[in-house]
Amino acid sequence: MTAERFKCYLVTRDHSGKVSAGIAEKSLDDLPEGEVLVRVAYSSLNYKDALAAEGHPGVARVFPHVPGVDLAGVVASSGVYEWVEGDRVLATGFDLGASRWGGYAEYTRVPQDWIVPLPEGLTLRESMILGTAGFTAGLCVDALQKHDVSPENGEIVVTGASGGVGSMAVAILAKLGYHVAAVTGKETAHEYLQGLGAERILDRGEVDDRSGRPMLHGRWAGAVDTVGGNILTTILRSTRHDGCVAACGLTAGDGLTMTVYPFILRGLSLAGIDAAWGPVPLRHEIWRRLAGPWKPRRLERMAQRTDLSGLPEKIREIRAGKITGRVVVEIGGEPHGRSPMHEIFEHTADLGLRIRADDLDGLFAEAARAMFSAIVTNLGQVHPRQTVSLQLEGDRHDELLRDWLGELLYAFHADHMLFCEFEVRLTDTGLTATARGESIDTGRHEIDAELKAVTYHGLKLQREGEGWLAEVIVDI
Ligand SMILES: NC(=O)c1ccc[n+]([C@@H]2O[C@H](COP(=O)([O-])OP(=O)(O)OC[C@H]3O[C@@H](n4cnc5c(N)ncnc54)[C@H](OP(=O)(O)O)[C@@H]3O)[C@@H](O)[C@H]2O)c1
Repeated sequence: MTAERFKCYLVTRDHSGKVSAGIAEKSLDDLPEGEVLVRVAYSSLNYKDALAAEGHPGVARVFPHVPGVDLAGVVASSGVYEWVEGDRVLATGFDLGASRWGGYAEYTRVPQDWIVPLPEGLTLRESMILGTAGFTAGLCVDALQKHDVSPENGEIVVTGASGGVGSMAVAILAKLGYHVAAVTGKETAHEYLQGLGAERILDRGEVDDRSGRPMLHGRWAGAVDTVGGNILTTILRSTRHDGCVAACGLTAGDGLTMTVYPFILRGLSLAGIDAAWGPVPLRHEIWRRLAGPWKPRRLERMAQRTDLSGLPEKIREIRAGKITGRVVVEIGGEPHGRSPMHEIFEHTADLGLRIRADDLDGLFAEAARAMFSAIVTNLGQVHPRQTVSLQLEGDRHDELLRDWLGELLYAFHADHMLFCEFEVRLTDTGLTATARGESIDTGRHEIDAELKAVTYHGLKLQREGEGWLAEVIVDI
């Protein structure tokens, strides 16, 4: 690709109304007007994107169209003072991927108000694991809090729990201490939902009352409903006095047939959630919380990856309600040449670390950062109070990498140390390194994954372009 031409996922409609979609090449001149040109690193797949990719008239209104309601990337050029080249940013909602070309492209241009600086505490990829789903779930939780629904009030029910918004809502609520009952139609998702913090799992049939009774036994203190239809009316009819139901979705239907009794006899609130057009200050505040106190545990384990060529299959799956968690769409990937980066991926029952850096010293340091960001949710809360020095011998870089991570993991298990800063120098005979950190403080540090051992299985360390790539599998 040159700077002028770029790849995108283009949806077209012919004269007969037939819609088709696939990878196409476009030029920067084809992009819509806007103050900020963004080089897209990642996007994500939401239910709405699947509708746009199929040319659904309620979502994609102008053809040809590029879907993608989410994007995270780096500012390539800006016509306004507020944003400069190199800024790491994300954008969700507004008309992105709907009336306007969205994130399924290597470049896109957006109005300046639509982008949010990547908050401290999130990588570009993590911001897209969250994406519109995380942001919407955040708005739902915010609505419950604003209606004084607190963990002491009782159970919160989340519907469509294994989907994108549902998964995020379960994880955020559980992290905030709420008792969560997760409703799912997928028997295979029970373990996954328990891992996110759901205390009870219910089948859809348990919240799909067809009796026609205006009110049912009060079961819930509140709800996050992502599916609508009769399930939403059942939940509204079975929420307790002064409860609140945050409604955001319609995968089960867009109808709402019920009486007003729950509202006038139980003081029930129905909070409508609109993640696309919310006020900008609230948008910044919700992202700040998602990157900090609300950042879901096991974020990486909610995500699967695809790229532009894998989209058609994932779109079919999400339309069939078959996706568990979130799909991150890798477009340009993490920008190179700026700083080392890592990502964490599921590997059967284990965890994988994928690390990229310009040089080997940076790769080893970043691998350690990757491992500790899998161990502790809020690595930013680990302070470099103590320094540990290490020397290791070995002439194979891949084995040295495993040993280096193994030593640090041993210090975590045996000495209860968490590390946040690393300096590594590879020598002819091995490496010398320092790691800085502090003892685990359970009041401040949120341990996410109890990593057991760094394995040789799937160990990879190789050149990639001008830089280096490593993959390490860790037992959990
Ligand atoms: N208001 C807003 O601003 C906003 C923002 C984002 C999304 N949304 C809406 O929220 C909904 C969820 O979005 P998403 O991206 O999370 O989609 P998703 O990942 O596809 O999740 C939807 C989940 O709903 C459940 N489901 C699917 N078909 C169902 C049916 N017929 N009856 C009952 N449950 C069904 C499934 O979960 P289980 O198998 O676990 O039951 C599915 O995984 C969509 O309607 C979307 O348009 C709205």
